[in-house]
Amino acid sequence: MTRILFYLNGYSHDVWREAFHAVDPDIDFRSYPDWGDPGDMSGDTYTLVWEPEHGLLKEYTNSKVTFSIGAGVDHIMSDPDLPTNIPIVRMADDGLKEGMAEFVVMSVLMHHRSMPELLNAQKQKEWARIFAPAASSIKVGIMGYGALGQKCAEVLRPLGYQINSWSQSAKADEKGVTHYTGMGELDNFLTNTNIVVGLLPNTEETTNLLNEKRLSKLPERASIINVGRGNLIEIDDLIKLLDNNHLSAATLDVFKEEPVPKSHPAWTHPKIIITPHIAAVTRPKTAAEYVVRNIKNMDNGQPLENVLNIQRGY
Ligand code: NAP
Ligand code: GLV
Repeated sequence: MTRILFYLNGYSHDVWREAFHAVDPDIDFRSYPDWGDPGDMSGDTYTLVWEPEHGLLKEYTNSKVTFSIGAGVDHIMSDPDLPTNIPIVRMADDGLKEGMAEFVVMSVLMHHRSMPELLNAQKQKEWARIFAPAASSIKVGIMGYGALGQKCAEVLRPLGYQINSWSQSAKADEKGVTHYTGMGELDNFLTNTNIVVGLLPNTEETTNLLNEKRLSKLPERASIINVGRGNLIEIDDLIKLLDNNHLSAATLDVFKEEPVPKSHPAWTHPKIIITPHIAAVTRPKTAAEYVVRNIKNMDNGQPLENVLNIQRGY
């Protein structure tokens, strides 16, 4: 018997239970706090969690795998009592990738076609006829070329954009994508990017990477879409460069502090679009298929997909 111990605040657990039972009606799906006795060793137990209470996972030493409901794992790694002997699998199901690609394509098109400026002009009843350059003249630079970054590139490419990627390790040659690797190539990547898409995990190395010095490397009128984690950007520096017209717009879905405090200047900045961390919200159907597939893989002695590397932090 497969048992899933599920922890997620603020969403219907019934939808998730139904999604798992559609894949396998025999799964024993348990919603927190009704997880049962941590000492119960009957059946095969797995946890599937988002922002679990600190110390909870340590109690359930019978869990064979911790599945993260999201691609990010900062919500699990912040637990000081996180058990180190249970593998953590990060979400990378098709629904999450497609959801992120939908949001990124929408945002890239909005930046390319000057939608933030046009919306401001409408508020002023100004007939501002802004002519857009061809997509083929625009370089979209994806910072973080993992599961989500690659899906975004796949969907953006047929629209005609030139794509750059920036990641930690070298990537194989790919038609239509120019790869940049590591800190040594970051400035070059930024100099060659008109629209930055932030898709990096929250780690020490990615924190405040986009500060005034690096944001200044971007060409005039470049813009930023941040959908990875808020730690990437020094937001005061970003606002400074939007105000002095070096940068033209920012769409920010993730922040160092969420929800963003009402007093934060980003809320009312005319060049900033804020969305409340919804770029890609895990979809129960494909997530259940992904988790069950991984459980089957494990049962068959196959490797788990997308296992967290604790040292790297993603
Ligand atoms: P992933 O597959 O692990 O990819 C992460 C990418 O970042 C990899 O290309 C990795 O390089 C690169 N990277 C990490 N640290 C780096 C560094 N120090 N320097 C250069 N590159 C670095 O992750 P994913 O599934 O694509 O997800 C990315 C992030 O998106 C998640 O961690 C999460 O925080 C965020 N997210 C946000 C939302 C939302 O709704 N806003 C939804 C889902 C996910 P290598 O390829 O060389 O390893
Ligand atoms: C969402 O932020 C995720 O990490 O999936």
